[in-house]
Amino acid sequence: MQDKTQKRNILQRILGICATNMPLDEGCWTFENGKIVVDLNRVPELAGASGAIRLEEKDLTERVLVFQGEDGQYYAFQNSCPHIKRRLDPLPGKNQVQCCSLGQSTFDYAGKLVSGSAQGDVQTYAVSVESNRLLITL
Ligand code: FES
Repeated sequence: MQDKTQKRNILQRILGICATNMPLDEGCWTFENGKIVVDLNRVPELAGASGAIRLEEKDLTERVLVFQGEDGQYYAFQNSCPHIKRRLDPLPGKNQVQCCSLGQSTFDYAGKLVSGSAQGDVQTYAVSVESNRLLITL
């Protein structure tokens, strides 16, 4: 069950346990020719502000965080903090994404570092919506 507050306790931060889960329906997304396609009809986790999934495996060379922002737009981030590569979660109520580790590096929706231990920005990817599918170009 997804933790809607996305708040991490100290143990979760020490262990680097993120709040965002893999999609319940594994078949809701594909990866081919550098593009991820997510069928929004099969991903209730993305409904609503700060709803998120993390995509891994299926030949992806990067972990990817996909979420709906507080502004209703969809975003895709490389799911790897530039500090020591822990995973990220969207922060409900803020237009920000935060690393799940103790360093709590925080980024805006453009991937720009706002605060925390990281020394630089995080990679983001272009997202478009077509026929209720998200198209993410890596
Ligand atoms: S890994 Fe993100 S702040 Fe350390």
